[in-house]
Amino acid sequence: MFRGLSVYTGNAHPEFAKDVCEALNVPLGRADVFKFPNGEIFVQIKENAREHDVFIVQTLAGPNVSDHILELLIMLDAFKRASAGRITAVMPRFAYGRSDKKDQPRVPITARLLADLVGLAGADRFLTMDLHQGQIQGFFSIPGDELTAFLPLIDYFGADYAGRDDAVVVVPDLGFAKKGRNFAERMRLPIAFIEKRRLGNTGESQIVDIVGDIGYRRAIIIDDEIDTGMTVMNTIDALQERGVHDIVVACVHAVLSGDAAARLCASGIRELVTTDTVPIPTPRHEKIRVLSVTPLFAESMRRIHEGESIGALFTSPTVQLPLRVR
Ligand code: R5P
Repeated sequence: MFRGLSVYTGNAHPEFAKDVCEALNVPLGRADVFKFPNGEIFVQIKENAREHDVFIVQTLAGPNVSDHILELLIMLDAFKRASAGRITAVMPRFAYGRSDKKDQPRVPITARLLADLVGLAGADRFLTMDLHQGQIQGFFSIPGDELTAFLPLIDYFGADYAGRDDAVVVVPDLGFAKKGRNFAERMRLPIAFIEKRRLGNTGESQIVDIVGDIGYRRAIIIDDEIDTGMTVMNTIDALQERGVHDIVVACVHAVLSGDAAARLCASGIRELVTTDTVPIPTPRHEKIRVLSVTPLFAESMRRIHEGESIGALFTSPTVQLPLRVR
């Protein structure tokens, strides 16, 4: 029904889009996406997109997140006006996930606003990974799919950790409790939760309580994202004070603002395992291990194009995607 599957990208994370194209065996579509000297963004699609099944790959993260959002919205508008058959906004990380409720007086729900903007600008569908809260799916009025990095993480840790009696999974933020529980169950490991309190809107937080036993020799700390690193650093300190010294940290979205990567890697952890939904700051510290989720995105895009199930990717034991560790 469409004239082909086409993939385009803005400037947020072109390597991710190139890897997706390689896995799909399609060329990356040509488009000019740049800023004029006055700061305004210009977009021109350099290929015929009429009736194509278009996927715009643009992660929303980093110090230039506002530019990346605007690039995506303007590209959506360009494809809509170019008569694309269907447009999917592929956002490996969706921004503003933490602004998902009115938890203080007179604050916005920016995640909802952003979801609205993506639909209004022209997206027919969205594709993303591990939203900060699953309910954010419902902020979109267009259909979409939320992937999870659960399987690559299980694959990576499985051989060394599954079923060990000296290891515990530690979830440093209660928002990740359910996914953390699923991870621990699949790894056949006990779990402990950290209750944290945010201190104002500064990004700072402190530990209020630890629920569960952390008296093990090894720990895997797992969260959806690391931003300033404060949440994870507090958890590392708490574990080390209690004699846990073999610690690995895992997260899906390594936002790693400022010097978070350097501080984390200097904290005595064995490694930081993450995915490539967000570009990792270079030069990359030797303790950072990156699991590529581009095979998962590529296969999902192929399935969306062919009208096949995405759910089966996570439930069918016959679907085996390569684990790429970088
Ligand atoms: C909850 O807010 C999230 O799951 C993460 O815990 C949070 O984004 C981490 O932020 P930071 O690294 O700045 O403490």
